Amino acid sequence: MQFPTRRMRRLRKTPQIRKILRETTLQAEDFIYPLFVKEELEEGAGEPIDTMPGQYRYSLEDSVDEAKRLEKMGLQSVLLFGMPEEKDEMGTAAYSDDGIVQQTVRRLKAETELVVITDVCLCQYTSHGHCGIVEGNEIVNDESLRLLAKTALSHAEAGADIVAPSDMMDGRVGEIRKLLDDGGFQDTLIMSYSAKYASSFYAPFRDAVCSEPSFGDRKTHQMSPSNVEEALLETELDLEEGADIVMVKPAMAYLDVISKVKETFQVPTAAYQVSGEYSMLKAGIEAGYLTEESIYESLLSIKRAGADLIISHFAPEFLEGNIHEEC
Ligand code: PBG
Ligand code: ZN
Repeated sequence: MQFPTRRMRRLRKTPQIRKILRETTLQAEDFIYPLFVKEELEEGAGEPIDTMPGQYRYSLEDSVDEAKRLEKMGLQSVLLFGMPEEKDEMGTAAYSDDGIVQQTVRRLKAETELVVITDVCLCQYTSHGHCGIVEGNEIVNDESLRLLAKTALSHAEAGADIVAPSDMMDGRVGEIRKLLDDGGFQDTLIMSYSAKYASSFYAPFRDAVCSEPSFGDRKTHQMSPSNVEEALLETELDLEEGADIVMVKPAMAYLDVISKVKETFQVPTAAYQVSGEYSMLKAGIEAGYLTEESIYESLLSIKRAGADLIISHFAPEFLEGNIHEEC
């Protein structure tokens, strides 16, 4: 059937027709909101993050208030990042029972119905800013696994529903699964940062949580932006080791990876719209180069690529109704 019998523009005739024919839409439950919780921060409103306009570091009390406010607007899930008072070589504060994340998890589980996810890594907690234990100039893999698993277990003990290892050490999902199972936490889920790239889009985040490595980089564990086959293998290994949900990070520069991961494995797949993606859109809008609709479009592209869940700093604005499609 060809023109003039087939006229595609019929399908786009009015806003109402366009609206009922949308193939992809966004819902509150698609979002996971990353919350930065800082130990010993004074209460009241939070500390603005310079590199991420509109985002804040919260005290324990304020993070709970903010989570409750967003829950009332339909938020289902948060991802917690902790900022400890003290850092040391071994990242001790990451796996301490009364660490900032552990305390926040307890409060959120007691006072909300939210799905509480915790970021599991050492880089915010180590004095050198690396994701594992450092010997000489090397981030040593197997020695780091024990501490990462210990961190995940302490989050599960505090009540976390899902632990999310973001370190990219080999074998960490298996090690975490084993320690959780041995500890009686068979029902705690693992959302693994499976295909995490060594990306320049993380810059605002490192500034936000002070996790810039003091020497070297993360290229010996995070992936090269050139590689897709490797992302599929990383994901396969994480699934074999027991990951329940897999993740691609960043999102917008890696839509092809999201799409391939979802097609290949057909398992729950998350995508992380990282700090740099957030700040880039914010800056473009602030400068008047872009409109607010670019935010919706970028989120839609992530969902369309195949993500079931989107970790995004835009979650509050979406829930407040500021981000939507004009049909
Ligand atoms: C490290 C970690 C990173 C992010 C979260 N955890 C990246 C990194 O510093 O290498 C990035 C999140 C973002 O940019 O939004 N474990
Ligand atoms: Zn890390």
